[in-house]
Amino acid sequence: METIRSEPPGTTGSGMSASPAPAIDTPVCALFGLRQPIFAFSHSIPVAAAVSRCGGLGTYGATRRTPQEIRDELAELRRLAGDTPIGVNLVLPPGMPEDDDPEAIERELPERHKAFVRGLYEKYGVPPPKRRGMRTRFLRSNEIARGQMDAVLESDVDLVACGIGMPADFVERCKRRGKRIVALCGSPKHARRAIDSGADLLVAQGHDSAAHTGPIGTFSLVPQVVEAAGDVPVLAAGGVMTGRHVAAGLALGAQGAWTGSLWLATEEYAIHPLLLKKLIAAGSDDTVVTRSESGKTFRQLRSAWSEEWSAPDAPRPLAMPHQDMLVGDLLGAIDDHEIEPLMHYAVGQGVAWIRERRPVAEVYAQLVTQTLAALAAVTALTGGAR
Ligand SMILES: Cc1cc2nc3c(=O)[nH]c(=O)nc-3n(C[C@H](O)[C@H](O)[C@H](O)COP(=O)(O)O)c2cc1C
Repeated sequence: METIRSEPPGTTGSGMSASPAPAIDTPVCALFGLRQPIFAFSHSIPVAAAVSRCGGLGTYGATRRTPQEIRDELAELRRLAGDTPIGVNLVLPPGMPEDDDPEAIERELPERHKAFVRGLYEKYGVPPPKRRGMRTRFLRSNEIARGQMDAVLESDVDLVACGIGMPADFVERCKRRGKRIVALCGSPKHARRAIDSGADLLVAQGHDSAAHTGPIGTFSLVPQVVEAAGDVPVLAAGGVMTGRHVAAGLALGAQGAWTGSLWLATEEYAIHPLLLKKLIAAGSDDTVVTRSESGKTFRQLRSAWSEEWSAPDAPRPLAMPHQDMLVGDLLGAIDDHEIEPLMHYAVGQGVAWIRERRPVAEVYAQLVTQTLAALAAVTALTGGAR
């Protein structure tokens, strides 16, 4: 069971400016040398670095980056994070094409789908894309995945998070280099498979969560994954936005929290002002799960984008990577040209707690304070469980 130290030991790593938040010490902290079992996923190097410097573990989402970008960015993450633990996330789904040949997939796109996308350009007056989109600049393929995995293996990250897919030889090579593997799991079945494949740590990521997500809610999923995991530690994810959520995750049997949406409005996170405004205005019922982004179920802010794709006459989204290729340039053009009704972002149901822009250190410190307060409140409520 976790213990809470009121007198924190020395800081982890260099460059921590504010006085460190109190430690929350669960067994998973010892695996990485953390002060608190708070893990953050972010597409932002400054956010990931800041979380690690606060005493948690920042993980950089690199799935849409080229191998060379990953090399450069992980070096930058290390520079900013000092000697604190850091992680990287890749999405490595099985069944992708062999070669990075976007045109080959584009040739396979059905005419009905291409006409629908052309219709969106026309209806919303979207000018032509200025450049290839984030989802089309390369094709999700085995060729790219091999390069990304090599870049990760060459880096000095402490943790490798596998979003979708966990190739056995990659896991083995990571572990030989002393990197720990965390697997994101949306069901107890995923959890058992991940353990058999050598995961050191599991994230039980419930339906509430941002981006690719499964059908099982966080409250139902976490204890089932904990049961399936045996001795392997589990982190609770999907809707973790406050200390109450962290404490609830611990009560469900997790040893810590894995967070994503929490960091989207931080000062270190570069986000378009219109999207920030939408996030701040949104409540939990303003997100939807749609396949229209990538071909797999994906939670995002509701917008004209998700409405158009769920209209009765809309085509069914294609499978990954065809949907990426179908919509990637349009998605890029929507953001580049600021087509407000269609602009959207991946975010979980916890968006209700995104209310203002604050620095990572402040969000982190508040999360820790709230967690301690929530744990104390439960103890008080139950009379110390006499
Ligand atoms: C903007 C955004 C993009 C994400 N992209 C990925 C990704 O590329 N790979 C991945 O494994 N998880 C991704 N996630 C999911 C996170 O890893 C995490 O599981 C999730 O955000 C937890 O739920 P929460 O958003 O409710 O905190 C993303 C999350 C956000 C907010």
